[in-house]
Amino acid sequence: MTDTKKNTLIRFATLPGDGIGPEVMEVALGLLRKAGDLHGFRIETSHHDVGGIAIDRHGEALPPATLDACRQQDAILFGSVGGPKWESLPPKEQPERAALLPLRKAFRLYANLRPGNLYPELSDLSPLRPETVARGIDVLCVRELTGGVYFGQPKSTKKLDDGQEEAIDTMVYLTSEIERVTEVAITAAKLRSGRLCSVDKANVLETSVLWRRVVSEKVAAEAPDLELSHMYVDNAAMQLVRDPNQFDVLLTENMFGDILSDELAVICGSLGMLASASLGADKNSHGLPYGLYEPAGGTAPDIAGKNLANPCAQILSAALMLRYSFGLEEAASSLENAVKAAIRTGHRTGDVSQGEPSVGTTEMGEAIASCLE
Ligand code: IPM
Ligand code: MG
Repeated sequence: MTDTKKNTLIRFATLPGDGIGPEVMEVALGLLRKAGDLHGFRIETSHHDVGGIAIDRHGEALPPATLDACRQQDAILFGSVGGPKWESLPPKEQPERAALLPLRKAFRLYANLRPGNLYPELSDLSPLRPETVARGIDVLCVRELTGGVYFGQPKSTKKLDDGQEEAIDTMVYLTSEIERVTEVAITAAKLRSGRLCSVDKANVLETSVLWRRVVSEKVAAEAPDLELSHMYVDNAAMQLVRDPNQFDVLLTENMFGDILSDELAVICGSLGMLASASLGADKNSHGLPYGLYEPAGGTAPDIAGKNLANPCAQILSAALMLRYSFGLEEAASSLENAVKAAIRTGHRTGDVSQGEPSVGTTEMGEAIASCLE
């Protein structure tokens, strides 16, 4: 093993959040420490409240102290937020929206990478036909995260003179916003098979017409060797269930990416396996993108605190953090390989065990730790 970054200190904010967040986070931090011992880096982290627990303790889902603490660090390792306790709050105050969207905006986290991986050992978990997924699934979704209809102005609800209400959301994209996320997708596609499919609705939406043109120009100028294709979002949704591996890297705008990435998640079997990275426009003290790393599976309140949750997505998110925000590629792949090896040797939490005997959260963590080298 080569220790090119011997004794590197990596500093990040830990935001465990609600539900299963804290318990899977503990397992992920243990594995990061072990990976550090093996690969020659040390971690230094501070814990902060976010989501429902922050509403209970501080009156808001993203307290200023949490935001300030994140600003002092080089990355954020995020758990998950939300739960039944806060579901009766007005939508704008709910943990998911009131914590995640402002964090994305504050750190200009414009590129969301969601790797859809189905390990061949777990192919039975996919709702797709066995012959479609026999070799597993490996698709990366690159979603624009700080633009489009989520953030466009005007955004309002008002009463009209005739007594009806009118609600408005606005879909806006700037050339620069499309260019920068395209760059991220180009980099990813070059490291993979070189196939990039950009998804839009250019037969209807102005933003999509611009999207398609800018993506084409950017790829032609910077990566003419890539195999670029374009697909309408309705077709992409269909193709994803028909034959997911026809895609390698998917690139799309914010809302389409929200929808397609959940579809990708479910065809990959378990939400408990899916990691994500949201990369920012700003560089951290390592000269790499500031990022937020979070599992895609949610808080699973029904199993929280029972040592039943699958820690894999949190661990794989930590691996993405090592890779993208700290440049520790070897350590990142060794964590990913350890997760694969633990699964290959039959260790499964309840969500992926299909009725076979399963292990708890901490035991899964120990199994992965013993595979780490
Ligand atoms: C996601 C989530 C969020 C989104 C919600 C919780 C605001 O669905 O990260 O995909 O829509 O972006
Ligand atoms: Mg979503």
